[in-house]
Amino acid sequence: MSKEIWWASESFWRKNAIWITAGSFLVLIFLTFDTVSQITAGGKRVPGYSVINHRITYEFDESRNMQVPVIGVEEPLFGQKLTEEEAQALVTRGKLTTQAKNCMNCHTLLGNGAYYAPDLTKSWLDQSWGSKDIREQEMVDFLMNPQDRLHNGLGRRMPNLNITEEEARATIAFLKWMSSIDTNGFPANFVSIDQEN
Ligand code: HEC
Repeated sequence: MSKEIWWASESFWRKNAIWITAGSFLVLIFLTFDTVSQITAGGKRVPGYSVINHRITYEFDESRNMQVPVIGVEEPLFGQKLTEEEAQALVTRGKLTTQAKNCMNCHTLLGNGAYYAPDLTKSWLDQSWGSKDIREQEMVDFLMNPQDRLHNGLGRRMPNLNITEEEARATIAFLKWMSSIDTNGFPANFVSIDQEN
């Protein structure tokens, strides 16, 4: 029988395949748990829902060389401070509205969706709402009647999706909460509304 070279043997490659598959499996399990802890509300990158009680700004972080959301002073949405549970219920209602009305058919949320209309990840912070004092009402009016306005000079109009005032307010809570998510600087070079006054 001819002497086999160790690295050319079938058993060596079979063992290799088994070990590499098993090793990758363990790495994937670890990464899954690591990701879940980062993407769960109240986790490392996604603040709890009651963040909608606070001012959110988007600022350049020198050490990370990217823009990051910063949670600031108390500034409740629609002037009404909510508990974590109430905030969760409202944000969830807003999220369900975005799903029911299929906003992703035109927009992207966290980069997912269609490229017909602007990304909504930071739309709460968009300059086109004018000033922070009128923003909440502007957003409600826009979501309920978007067909009448050319909002941010894109040249495309959003159709009326028969969104009720209650749905609009919940959607805005969802958008405000989403703007607080640390998305590693996505979308890049976003210029935020002035909120310093
Ligand atoms: C048929 C396509 C379409 C659908 C569906 C749609 N939109 Fe829009 N949306 C647009 C377009 C186009 C614009 C830009 C309008 C403009 O600039 O005048 C826009 C603009 C917006 C803006 C302003 C963005 C900014 O940063 O200034 C918000 C907020 C918004 N949409 C929310 C929503 C939500 C929430 C839904 C789902 C309930 C939705 N849209 C569904 C087309 C759509």
